[in-house]
Amino acid sequence: MKNFCVIGNPIDHSFSPQLHNWIFNKLNIKANYKKIVCNENDFFTIINKIKNDDLMGINITIPFKESVIKFLDEINHRVELIGSVNCILKNNQKIIGYNTDWYGFSKLLFNNKINVYNKEVIIIGAGGVSKAIIHSLINHNIKKIRLFNRTFTKAKAMENFFINAYKLENLECFIKKNSIIINCTSVGMKNNISPISESLIHKNQILIDTIYNPYMTELLKIGKRKGSQVINGMDMFIYQGIASLELWLGKSINDELNILELKKYLKDIL
Ligand code: ATR
Repeated sequence: MKNFCVIGNPIDHSFSPQLHNWIFNKLNIKANYKKIVCNENDFFTIINKIKNDDLMGINITIPFKESVIKFLDEINHRVELIGSVNCILKNNQKIIGYNTDWYGFSKLLFNNKINVYNKEVIIIGAGGVSKAIIHSLINHNIKKIRLFNRTFTKAKAMENFFINAYKLENLECFIKKNSIIINCTSVGMKNNISPISESLIHKNQILIDTIYNPYMTELLKIGKRKGSQVINGMDMFIYQGIASLELWLGKSINDELNILELKKYLKDIL
């Protein structure tokens, strides 16, 4: 039996066990995936379980995608660029960190026919997920990212040729009636709060929420009411998971899966 888990805090919102256990069942893989709520103090013990082969792989979720890096032996070259890890595994006795969130987000853009080439994008949030999304956007030849965060210093530290950082309070000065806006904060995960006030949401905007649980966050509900294109984090979630599993198993599984069936299953149980 192969064992996997996702670690985070909070973790109750995560549907990674349902995603992976559904795939194991469909592909007849003898494996189990569970979620573990933990603190940074527990990382050493949990990561040792990979060293001892008690675990074959771990996903990392909020808020540990950056802080986990110091516990790893190596990071993949993409993690060096992104600065956050959502997947770890053992290779040649070394614990290595990978990022598959950026790939999940690229699939979300592709599946929803969102063209960001030479465009300006507004991102709210400057944590681990935000970093992976920025990597994906830069790979899609974005023109400019306007990055807003509650803790301004974190956004400021991410500034580069593509990124301008702002205080969250200044959001209304930069949102346009046709902006592409991406929520990379956890606002809306546990409550009916939108990270953007309703008056700033317009029908010609594209609103992307990285949250998939709830399926429709308050931000997306407002956008839908106003006629904007709204996209939740489900595609990103599914494809980061499949990419993690492909790394752990060392083979491609995507073509063996009925993604529509998987999406329906997840939507129905959310
Ligand atoms: P993830 O791995 O999902 O990116 P994270 O690294 O903990 O998780 O980042 C969470 C993001 O949500 C951060 O940008 C955080 O803002 P701070 O940097 O100021 O902490 C943002 N966030 C969380 N709760 C928020 C709130 N109530 N209002 C605004 N931003 C919030």
